[in-house]
Amino acid sequence: MSLFDKFASTAEQYNAICAAGGRDPFGVSMDKMLGPTRAMVKGREIVLAGTNNYLGLTYNEDAVEAAKDAVAASGTGTTGSRFANGTYDGHRQLERDLAEFLGFKHCMVFSTGYQSNLGAISALAQPPDDVILIDADCHACIYDGCQLSGAQTIRFRHNDPESLDKRLARLGPAVKGKLVCIEGMYSMFGDTAPVKAFAEVAHKHGAYLLLDEAHSFGVYGPGGRGVCEAEGVLEEVDFYTGTFSKSLASIGGFVASNHPELEYLRFSSRPYMFTASPSPANVAAASAALKTLAADDSMRKSLWSNARRVHEAFTQLGFELCADVGPVVAVLMKSREEAVTAWNMLMEHGVYVNLAIPPGTPNAASILRLSVSAAHTSEDLDVVISAYTAVSEALSVVEASA
Ligand SMILES: Cc1ncc(COP(=O)(O)O)c(C=O)c1O
Repeated sequence: MSLFDKFASTAEQYNAICAAGGRDPFGVSMDKMLGPTRAMVKGREIVLAGTNNYLGLTYNEDAVEAAKDAVAASGTGTTGSRFANGTYDGHRQLERDLAEFLGFKHCMVFSTGYQSNLGAISALAQPPDDVILIDADCHACIYDGCQLSGAQTIRFRHNDPESLDKRLARLGPAVKGKLVCIEGMYSMFGDTAPVKAFAEVAHKHGAYLLLDEAHSFGVYGPGGRGVCEAEGVLEEVDFYTGTFSKSLASIGGFVASNHPELEYLRFSSRPYMFTASPSPANVAAASAALKTLAADDSMRKSLWSNARRVHEAFTQLGFELCADVGPVVAVLMKSREEAVTAWNMLMEHGVYVNLAIPPGTPNAASILRLSVSAAHTSEDLDVVISAYTAVSEALSVVEASA
């Protein structure tokens, strides 16, 4: 019996996936980046259509200059946590800027988006008195936050406020604190949450609402403040979590709230206290990206126009899509094998999307997850659409001859 026995079946499946198309879908390496939407992969130019670079700001001139200046002024790393040595003026300024942009009184910057959820949930909910209720399709970092917290965790049906209502109603008087966790846009299928309805149910039962807008910040709402802004209920959110690694084109994350007690997390949240703070360059790039997206909605407009084009084209090709028009366009495949075949064909046609298969997907679905960027040019999207056209034709051929 070895420590490694448990990996055998996963390794077997992994090797079979790699052998099927001659590529490793989970190990694609960009030999050279050519811009926000193109890279060289094994000597070939590829259109990147699986990133989370929704506003395309990774090469934004202001962000690049701000990052360079920050390295020159403050060095390459902080070598300390937010709690000790690792809080610079840039971290504090970004907290103030994010709070102001979102309209919250308090904000804490974490080292990653993952740690923002991990740190907020594990510090807010504690056993034995508190209960966490999470949407079944929540991201791994929300599940991990629940595990780190140790508080009782109850799942409710995805995007179903009634299911949450029933579970909250069943809780006995011994439960003191109730924390409900949902996301604005779910990254695999690209569907959005009915945030208003969830906020009503949560507050009716005296529960707090934590909303992760990782994928919807910068994208949804008239000002880019997420699905809660689009639904007009930003102020109903108790804890708003987000990341710098998507629309803000950097690395890091944050939690914002109007509850002054958020500040207690600075000395009680382990994922905040016991890891190095984001580097000056990451903070400066995120700050510059935030200023850009707050001042200019043209990227958001381009993103939505690109999303509409892709959604329409894929619908016409007859693909089954997992959600309405949005920046994530997920195509549902009939099986894991079909998804692997289609993913390899797309690579052959110069397009990189995300292959997502069970167990990492909701409802054990096998999907090709494409994400649209404001930086995709019309020519990029021509390449994408013609690659999907080839896939659709090839799959119909397979079906016809089966
Ligand atoms: C919903 C959600 N929350 C949080 C994260 C973590 O963000 P980060 O990659 O910045 O740590 C992700 C990552 O993809 C995510 O999808």
